[in-house]
Amino acid sequence: MHPHLFAPVLIGTLDLPNRVIMAPLTRARSGPDQVPTALMAQYYAQRADCGLIVSEATAVDPLGMGWYGAPGLYNPEMVAGWRVVTDAVHAAGGRMFAQLWHMGRLVLPDYLGGDLPIGPSAIAGEGETMAPPPPDYTGGFLPMKPYVVPREMDQADIDRVVASYGAAARNAVAAGFDGVEIHGANGYIIDQFLQSKTNLRSDGYGGEVSNRARLLREIIEVVAAQVNPGRIGLRISPTSERKGMGDEDPGALAETIGQIAGEFGIAYVHLIEPIAAGFMEKPRHPVMDRLRASYAGAVIQNGSFDAATADAFIAAGQADAVSFGRPYIANPDLVERMREDRPLAAANFDYAYVGGGCGYTDYPRYAG
Ligand SMILES: Cc1cc2nc3c(=O)[nH]c(=O)nc-3n(C[C@H](O)[C@H](O)[C@H](O)COP(=O)(O)O)c2cc1C
Repeated sequence: MHPHLFAPVLIGTLDLPNRVIMAPLTRARSGPDQVPTALMAQYYAQRADCGLIVSEATAVDPLGMGWYGAPGLYNPEMVAGWRVVTDAVHAAGGRMFAQLWHMGRLVLPDYLGGDLPIGPSAIAGEGETMAPPPPDYTGGFLPMKPYVVPREMDQADIDRVVASYGAAARNAVAAGFDGVEIHGANGYIIDQFLQSKTNLRSDGYGGEVSNRARLLREIIEVVAAQVNPGRIGLRISPTSERKGMGDEDPGALAETIGQIAGEFGIAYVHLIEPIAAGFMEKPRHPVMDRLRASYAGAVIQNGSFDAATADAFIAAGQADAVSFGRPYIANPDLVERMREDRPLAAANFDYAYVGGGCGYTDYPRYAG
C-alpha cells in the first residue's frame, strides 16, 4: 500500500528507508532537572522504523525552558541522557534529529525564579499554559496560568539566544543525534520574531520581513558551524495564529524563509500546514507553493495527514515526506499499520504530558 510514502528518499545527506517522519511531540517524561530518561529511550526505540524521528522540543537555554518535564540540551547530564536515547534508536535501526527550542515569551515567570520571560516585543501570548507543580505534587494535571507580557529583548539577549542554539547544536552532535531541527514554529521565539503581529521592533530585527527573519538567519549560521547543513532541518508554521500569533503576509514570509534555507543548503523545511482542522486550524491561504518556489530542498509536510493523503501529496510533488504527530502517540508500529492498511489505535490525551509509562510506552503493537 501507499508506494510513494514507503519509497526511500535522500533528505540532505541522510538516507531514509521510507518517508514517514515522526513529528516532534512534547511528552514531558524527563526528570525535573530536564534530563532525558531511560523511559524516553524505550518510547523512541519503539518507533524507530520510521524514516526519521524528530525529538520532542528540547530547550537550548534555561531562559527558554517553560514546560515541566520537557528535556534540555544545555549541560553534560542532558547530553549523557540523550546519548542513551540515541543509542537505543540507533540499535533499533533508526535515525533521530534533536528539535532545538527556545520558548521566548511563552515561559511563565514561575520557571524563571520570578523573572519575566524575553520576547521580541512587550506583547503577551494569548491563553494559558502549565505552571510547574506545587511542592506536594504526586502526579496528575498541572495548574494552568496565563502567559505574561515579556521583557523586550536587547542585543545582549539576542546574542545569548543565538549562542545557545550553537551550543545546543554542538551538544546534539555529542549526544549522538543524526542532525538537528531548528524549531521555528508554533509561536516560540523564532516564530515570535518572524511573524509581524508579535514583532513590533524598530531595530534591524523588526519591520520588513527580511529583518524579522534576521534572528533565524543568525541561528542557522551558528548551528551550521556545528552541524553539516545536510543534517539541519527547520520547522515553520507561518499560517498558524495560535497563542496570539499572526502575520500580515504569510506567503511572503514562507518565501523569505525558503530563500534563507536555500542559501544555507539545509536538508529540509518542515512545514506545518494542516490539510484539515484538528490540532490546528486549516490555513485560509496555504503557503506551500510560495515555499516550493523559493526553496529547492526537501519539504516535510505536517498536519492531519493519514497514509492515503500523505501518499497523494508525495505523488503530486507537494511533499518529499510527511510527518505524523498525534497518530504516533498510540501507534508505536504506525509504519507497519499504514503499510498494511491496518486500523489505528486512538490515543488517550489525558496522558499526553503526564503519567510516566502509562499512555506512553504501554500502547501495544497491532495484534490482529
Ligand atoms: C502532545 C503533542 C505534543 C506536541 N509537541 C510538539 C513539539 O514538541 N514540537 C513541535 O514542533 N510540535 C509539537 N506538536 C505538534 C505536532 O508535531 C504536529 O504538528 C501536530 O500534532 C499536527 O500533526 P498531526 O495532525 O499529525 O498530529 C505537538 C502536538 C501534540 C499533540
